Amino acid sequence: MKYPNLFKPIKIGNTLFRNRIFSAPIGHPDVTLDGNFSDDAIAFYERKAQGGAAAVTLGEAIVDSVYGKRHAFQISLDNQNVFHSLSRLADSVTRHGAAVSIELQHSGMQATPGIVTPGFCTASDIVYGPSDYELDGKKIREMPEEIILEIIEKFARAALFVKNCGFTMVTVHAGHGWLLNQFLAPRLNRRKDKWGGNTENRARFVVEVCNAIHRLCGDDFPVEVRISGSEVLEGGYGIEEGIRIAKALDGYADIIHVSVGGGIGLPNAQLGFSITHPCMFKEDGVNVKYAAEIKKHVKKSAVATVGALSDPAMMEEIIASGKADIVEMARGLVCDPDLPSKARDGRDDEIVRCIRCFACFSDLVKHGGCFCALNPVTNRERTFGRLLPEAKKQKVLVVGGGIGGMQAALTAAENGHEVILCEKSGRLGGRIRCEENVPFKKHLKRYIEQRERLLAKAGVEVRLNTEVTPEYAKSTEADVIIAAIGAVPLIPDIPGIDGANVIGAEEAFLNPAKVKHSALILGAGLVGTELAIYLHGLGKKVQIIEKIAQFNHGSNELHGMAVKSKLAEEGIEVSFSTAAVKIDAGGVWCKTPAGERYYEADTVIYAVGQKPLTEEAMALYDCAAHFYPLGDCVTPGNIGDATAQAMTIARNVGRF
Ligand SMILES: Cc1cc2nc3c(=O)[nH]c(=O)nc-3n(C[C@H](O)[C@H](O)[C@H](O)COP(=O)(O)O)c2cc1C
Repeated sequence: MKYPNLFKPIKIGNTLFRNRIFSAPIGHPDVTLDGNFSDDAIAFYERKAQGGAAAVTLGEAIVDSVYGKRHAFQISLDNQNVFHSLSRLADSVTRHGAAVSIELQHSGMQATPGIVTPGFCTASDIVYGPSDYELDGKKIREMPEEIILEIIEKFARAALFVKNCGFTMVTVHAGHGWLLNQFLAPRLNRRKDKWGGNTENRARFVVEVCNAIHRLCGDDFPVEVRISGSEVLEGGYGIEEGIRIAKALDGYADIIHVSVGGGIGLPNAQLGFSITHPCMFKEDGVNVKYAAEIKKHVKKSAVATVGALSDPAMMEEIIASGKADIVEMARGLVCDPDLPSKARDGRDDEIVRCIRCFACFSDLVKHGGCFCALNPVTNRERTFGRLLPEAKKQKVLVVGGGIGGMQAALTAAENGHEVILCEKSGRLGGRIRCEENVPFKKHLKRYIEQRERLLAKAGVEVRLNTEVTPEYAKSTEADVIIAAIGAVPLIPDIPGIDGANVIGAEEAFLNPAKVKHSALILGAGLVGTELAIYLHGLGKKVQIIEKIAQFNHGSNELHGMAVKSKLAEEGIEVSFSTAAVKIDAGGVWCKTPAGERYYEADTVIYAVGQKPLTEEAMALYDCAAHFYPLGDCVTPGNIGDATAQAMTIARNVGRF
């Protein structure tokens, strides 16, 4: 076995975990009107158990619907109606040999007053926290002791409830700025009674929750406690306090799960999200150091680490060197639920590594479903698991070797068709290939190379440097044409755009040396802003101008937030409501809200959007019996749009 430590079972309480890889808490707001998990949500969690994780943890289930709810689509564990769906969920995970856990949460100061839970109750208008506080205009009252005691009982009753549903363990959320973390944080907990003051007092709430759960559910029922080992942000508590918290919980929690972040009320709180959920600008395993430090001080409880993990070799080293006893992953398993079984079998090169693009979380917030840009099956397990009528074998010509074209070719081949994939350029990967040397896109480069190997393995005939004209398409005698020919960069109509000092974003990514010293980027979309971060990292002076009054980051709001934070951190200036009027050899004349301004730059780079190659795709529509255009040549979209559409269309071939 390649990773003997990672796959060494561990016994906690009465439970044997088959390896050291846990699926970290992921909330799933796809609940029915009566507050139950949908069948799709159940299938989403089941898939992680099937892929080999030792434990699968459901996120944010609320123990107290009166004072503890943040939003309407959180499961309420004080609602007996959820018994059946939780039982089905527990069964769907444990049948695969994995433990199933659920995160017990109370929002405290972050609760939404008066929130109505589907099919259940309406929350109180009063919001309690450890101490009186004003949070974003919301008045927080100090929680009376009788309510603290009531909530401790609610945590315990929720644990017993899920134990009766078939859950193996629970995960108490005492991190990320939720109620128990608010009690732990010295700046929020200013109480003078036994629930405030020194670390022991501030940790009393969590300790009593652990004790109450063990009392009701038995000492052998594992209780994992998720803490923020450090808030990381300036003004929040640091690792020294994290160590004291962990020492206070040692032996009460069976597992101390060391996450990071929080930051309620801090001026820089918005940066916390990409610390708790490391964005693509942070290195792999960036938060392991906090768990490793805590592990040195914890004697009785097991210690888990989490954050930006997806490399089994790194995870093996974490366990082998004693930095932690357990590694937890959220996005790594959203992207590839089979990561554990592939690592176990030494098939590392088959693991699809998360690019940390935040499509999953942005989709979760926006659409209630945790979809993955690289893995179209995630959160569509039931859709893609459905039996289809048998496919009639077809000859399929896929035109365009970008992300969508590669996915379509692969799926078509896996469904038994004869597939030719033609790509105009000399390499597969499409437009995104130009980013292959960008350090924060290294997992994307790996993904494209992996696709190339998979296409070869699936028997797809790849024809590079091949432009598909209608004549060429007809000559292949394909039954089906899938046109995934993408889009080309829009060139803005500005005097001077054809100057020798002007290049497109793609060229700048490919040849950063063309930017001598300073660049002005036209467009604050994702392409322009990520390019700015890349060039800045190479030591160039970069500025961005944007015509509209805000960033143009599309639907992936959380990645947009990470990009914004990174631009601010690096001091890259973005001027909004600023339109380029004329480009000359020394820079760009712009119209700004304050009048005309000249931006000096030796290189001007346009990144103002894409023009779909619709006409070129349409030229192929009558070259085969069936014609399917997909991806950017229909409407420019993101990677997730392309992979999902490609897999769906390719599966339909020969069937519908
Ligand atoms: C889609 C999504 C939903 C999440 N939901 C929760 C949640 O309900 N509770 C929680 O404590 N953490 C939640 N997390 C945070 C993860 O548990 C994890 O701490 C974080 O994503 C860092 O790990 P990763 O880099 O492996 O994704 C969520 C993360 C993602 C990506």
